[in-house]
Amino acid sequence: MPLEKSAPARKTPAMPRVLVGKEQLDGETRVAATPETVKLIKKLGLDVVVEAGAGDGSFIADADYEAVGAKIVGEEAYSDADVVLRVRGPEPVRAGALKEGAVVIGFTAPYKDDELTKKMLERKVTSLPMELVPRITRAQKMDALSSQASIGGYKAVLIAASSLPKYFPLLMTAAGTVKPARVVVMGAGVAGLQAIATAKRLGAIVEASDIRPAVQEQVESLGGKFIPLPESEESGEGKGGYAKEVTKEFLQKQQAIVKEHVVQAHVVITTALVPGRPAPKLITADMVEGMKPGGVIIDMAVEQGGNCELSELGKDVRKHGILIVGHANLPATMPADASMLYARNVFALLDNIVKEGELDIDLADDVTGGTLLTHDGQMFHEQTAKRLELPVAARPTEEKAE
Ligand code: NAI
Repeated sequence: MPLEKSAPARKTPAMPRVLVGKEQLDGETRVAATPETVKLIKKLGLDVVVEAGAGDGSFIADADYEAVGAKIVGEEAYSDADVVLRVRGPEPVRAGALKEGAVVIGFTAPYKDDELTKKMLERKVTSLPMELVPRITRAQKMDALSSQASIGGYKAVLIAASSLPKYFPLLMTAAGTVKPARVVVMGAGVAGLQAIATAKRLGAIVEASDIRPAVQEQVESLGGKFIPLPESEESGEGKGGYAKEVTKEFLQKQQAIVKEHVVQAHVVITTALVPGRPAPKLITADMVEGMKPGGVIIDMAVEQGGNCELSELGKDVRKHGILIVGHANLPATMPADASMLYARNVFALLDNIVKEGELDIDLADDVTGGTLLTHDGQMFHEQTAKRLELPVAARPTEEKAE
């Protein structure tokens, strides 16, 4: 096994070494650092090594990394890296080989991948999952959920438009008028808003539903029509700008309202999510059956269980004459820009834990501490600690540290 080989000797043992790992998941074309960010990492005073072929899926050759001073290495480099940069979390064999105390940055799925979380605890890894970056102003440049969701929303509309057997815009032709396509977007967060904007630019009539009332204004400012919420004491507004899970009764009322719009639609794009929870089921089989044949549903929540009852992970299926696209990783279909933006997000997070060429994990820092999942064998994320029935470590706050 290559991982059992000893890692190459270092020229400068004191210099923290950053490994840019090669993604192993099928279809994962993105990479966590580009030559642009490798240059920036080196400027921080860190050594950068890149796993052979890491940039292939994003059209970045090993030679492009070498040109900016990174050494190309094999997977044995995992055991000698002080920082590992990935898009997805390292696979079990790689996670098991991590150096004690290493830092791992990537979408490590803290809500799902318990095996990896436990392994990182065991290896005393400092894990900074991109999913947990707090949505505060200072952390905006590190917000990979947003940069990637925006790509997903854009691409979902393009797939829908190219799969639909009709035009998106209104057209006046010599042969008569073509009516514009009707698009319904479920969930108007980052992906949903980008989908609304893109569908509007293509000339469709766009309606959107969300359970956070604050979103109405944003939908309208993009030219979309907001589908009214059920009359209820209950609100879907949760903490930090996110939604909270609504009750079954609320969801049923919402489904009844949404149904009237969905059955009129040619395209439905679903992006509704509640962090750490299964995706709410918003589009029932009955609604799909009610849509016009030839219609398209793009279920962007399919990795979290799907917003549509009939979607299937990783598959395009046709049911009741409707094409239901369950693509699990839309950002990976646009790897050049997805990697460019993701790598910048990762760099910004890394920059925040480097002081004068050394790694400095400041637990009191709102961004580092707020993102932290595990550190020094302790669990810092409350929701994950609860699920794994582990004690949650308290971190000093910025105020207390002063
Ligand atoms: P997300 O991906 O977790 O969820 C997508 C959308 O689904 C959300 O708008 C949510 O309200 C909606 N949703 C959940 N349950 C639903 C249901 N039953 N029916 C319809 N919609 C439902 O959220 P995302 O896109 O990551 O961000 C959510 C919000 O976070 C943004 O709209 C924004 O307000 C805030 N944000 C703040 C940032 C900052 O301040 N730096 C950066 C990015 C986002």
